[in-house]
Amino acid sequence: MSKPKVLVARAIFPETIERLAQHFEVESNQADEAWSKAQLIEKLQGKVGVFTTGSERIDAELLAACPDLKICANMAVGYNNFDTEAMTAHGVLGTNAPDVLTETTADFGFALLMATARRIAESEHFLRAGKWQKWAYDMFSGSDIHGSTLGIIGMGRIGQGIARRGAHGFGMKVVYHNRSRLDAALEAECKASYVGKEELLKTADHVVLVVPYTPASHHTIGAAEIALMKPTATLVNIARGGIVDDAALAVALKEKRIAAAGLDVFEGEPKVHPDLLTVPNVVLTPHIASATVPTRKAMADLAVDNLIGYLVNGKPLTPVNPAVLAKN
Ligand code: GLV
Repeated sequence: MSKPKVLVARAIFPETIERLAQHFEVESNQADEAWSKAQLIEKLQGKVGVFTTGSERIDAELLAACPDLKICANMAVGYNNFDTEAMTAHGVLGTNAPDVLTETTADFGFALLMATARRIAESEHFLRAGKWQKWAYDMFSGSDIHGSTLGIIGMGRIGQGIARRGAHGFGMKVVYHNRSRLDAALEAECKASYVGKEELLKTADHVVLVVPYTPASHHTIGAAEIALMKPTATLVNIARGGIVDDAALAVALKEKRIAAAGLDVFEGEPKVHPDLLTVPNVVLTPHIASATVPTRKAMADLAVDNLIGYLVNGKPLTPVNPAVLAKN
């Protein structure tokens, strides 16, 4: 019997392809070519599954043109590249890759916070440029992390990981804002207090964004929100591009309305707002918060487990639109 056909949309670990090949006829993109939507649609003809990385848009137009497709397995916890409503309407299951990246991503969120508050990237550029001639009392003075107030917007698993690091490791006072309040036991474990968004923005010394991207969370932080923040505050976005109004942030950084920002995600990435590239008080990284070898392997494995789980055993591990399963 011939194997079901799946497509891997981006370059990935060779062992990921090998695992898939045990169950499926696999077409891959190990050359990591940038496929247009039309090319992706063409490649998906006859495929029942696709391994995506979070950058391939799965929408109504694509679904209508790919009638064989049954599952899109994202190697990412975020799945704003999926139009889940259209997928459910077409009976196509989406899966994501939660949990396996939580601690790695929380580590990175904290690293970016520290690099931002302590001006690590800016001072390193200064040194590399040969500008360090003498020590000075005020050279690259940043803001303290220990004992300061950490404000977390989006208190899912990664937000909680950042809260634990801040509260337990650095003695920070942690406040958070989320769609729903955590239960008391989890709040106690994270040593975090629930506050309104406005209060968080006004009181936090460091604001970290870990909220999923949805139309409702678009520009959670824009000029009005930045205006509420302390002039000494820092802002870190490890969530998604579009959560922050990057143009407004660039203006605020230039005018020192807040002290600094750390950004791992950008509106329209991999493009970066040109004004962000010219301001010194921002640390910019290319969407690498989950990028350690073990974690990226675990994410790829989970996407493969979902493809096998659904297409071979009828049981996906981490569905994002389980309504499709109820329909079957
Ligand atoms: C990365 O951004 C992810 O959503 O996993």
